[in-house]
Formats: sequence, C-alpha cells, structure tokens
Amino acid sequence: MSRTVYVNGQYLPEEDATVSIFDRGFLMADGVYEVTSVLDGKLLEFDGHLKRLERSLNELGMDKPEAFDGLLEIHRELVARNNVDQGGVYLQITRGAADRDFVFPKDAKPTLVMFTQSKPLLDTAASENGLKVIFLEDIRWGRRDIKTVQLLYPSMGKMMAKAEGCDDAWLVEDGFVTEGTSNNAYIVKDGKIITRDLSTDILHGITRASILKYAEEAQMVFEERPFTPEEAKEADEAFISSASTFVMPIVEIDGSTIGDGKPGATTQRLREIYIEESRKRAI
Ligand code: PDD
Repeated sequence: MSRTVYVNGQYLPEEDATVSIFDRGFLMADGVYEVTSVLDGKLLEFDGHLKRLERSLNELGMDKPEAFDGLLEIHRELVARNNVDQGGVYLQITRGAADRDFVFPKDAKPTLVMFTQSKPLLDTAASENGLKVIFLEDIRWGRRDIKTVQLLYPSMGKMMAKAEGCDDAWLVEDGFVTEGTSNNAYIVKDGKIITRDLSTDILHGITRASILKYAEEAQMVFEERPFTPEEAKEADEAFISSASTFVMPIVEIDGSTIGDGKPGATTQRLREIYIEESRKRAI
C-alpha cells in the first residue's frame, strides 16, 4: 500500500514525491536525519530527537527548514495518515539543491523529507533471542556526534556481519569499542553497566541518555568509559540501544558466547523499564 510522505511542505503519495538531482543530500551526503520511534501510535522521545536535530544543523551551519517549528505536527499527521501503530518516522534535512560545488551555496533552501515505516518493535525474534555481532575497524569520519546521512560504512558493516552469519558489527578504534553501526554499545560485568562516554567519537544516543537515567533511578550501577573488545568478549551480558531497537540483547561477540548465550537479566530488565517509561512519556 502506498504511504503518504512529506516533502517540503506537501503531503504526497510516495510515488509522487521527488527531490532535485542537484540536492546536496544526494550529491554530497550534505544532510542530517533523525529516526523517532512510534509505539501505540505515539512518538517516543520526540523532544530529545528535535534537540539533537537542531544541534546537528548548527554544527554543520545548515539552515532550518521553514517548517521546523511545526515538526511535531507533521510527525503526528504522518503517523495518523499512515495508520502507524508500531514503527518509526524518518526525517531528513539537507542543505538543499544547488549546482554542484564543494563550497556551500549561499541561498539554497533546505530540503525536508519525512516518511513513516511500520514494523513490530516489541517481542521480536531479535529481542527474544538476542543478536550476534562481529568487530570491525571504525573508519568513519571524526564527527560521529553529528547525525549525518553518510551511512555507507555502517551499511557495509552490516553486510559484512551478515556475510559472517551475524546481525551487526561493533566498531573498534585505537583498541576500544566506539559503538555499533547504528546503535550504542554496552556490556555488563559483575552487575555494572559499562558504555563509552560521550565525545565526538560516537553519536549521543537519545535512547542511551534515557537508559542511563532510568538505570540510575532503578539504582543500577553504571560507568561511562571506553571498553576493549577483549572485555566485551568476556562480559556477563551485552546489549545495544537505538530508537528502533530500544534495548536489544547481544548474545555473541566475535564468535564468543556472552553469558549463557541467552539475553541477560540486567538487559531484559532495562528493556522492560525503557519500554514502560518511554510509553508513559510518549506524545
Ligand atoms: N541510528 N549510534 C549510531 C551510529 C546510530 O546511527 C544510532 C541511531 C545510535 C542510537 O541513537 P538513538 O538512540 O538516538 O536512536 C547510535 C538510527 C536509529 C538509524 O540510523 O536508523
């Protein structure tokens, strides 16, 4: 069934929606994005995603599209028009269309594109059984805190993982895990949750921020510091977080079984807390 999507002020059937071939998102990956999850037809963590979007735009000196202040309404309208119960809303802003040039155009109008994706987020095979990850060298650029649409290496990473019978890759730089290809990475050792501290090396996950807040409220112990691939392989539990996976157990890392090969107790508890709390706050 055809979706209704949003492009630069218009709601259109997806097959009628177009963007210029000169769009800098297309030519230069000169664009940023957000993925906001939908549960029970409501948006999760909308404020967090909006704030990070604004930060990404600022860091790249990109103008806000005219519709910026109406983004909540557009999200809701798309969810309603497409009857989304579970899934997400994808939003992309680019610097706009201009004749190809490395220099930023002076008067291009930002492009705003949004669409929904319906998919089950709760009680999936992945959340019941856990995922397997491999390690890959992190060769992405140095500003991973900006959520740009330069996703070729993450995409290749997932393909390399699949070729090895796994689900995803954890990226490693200078002997430490940075994050997953499209998620933040965590291990649990002796009851302590360990995840890399924030810097330009990783995306500042909106889900990550909430998980750490809820973990603290539940008096769970956590530490924000880089961990090594060896520590990861010897962890009691491991998991990832992102808007689209919430808290997702990892049961195998680079061929080593984690714990007893089933999702760990701390991971499962955090997943339950995260879903319950974000459901309560959904708008
Ligand atoms: N990915 N790290 C990377 C590299 C990511 O791409 C993402 C999100 C995260 C988690 O951020 P958040 O919790 O705010 O979703 C961490 C999205 C979901 C994607 O690309 O589809």
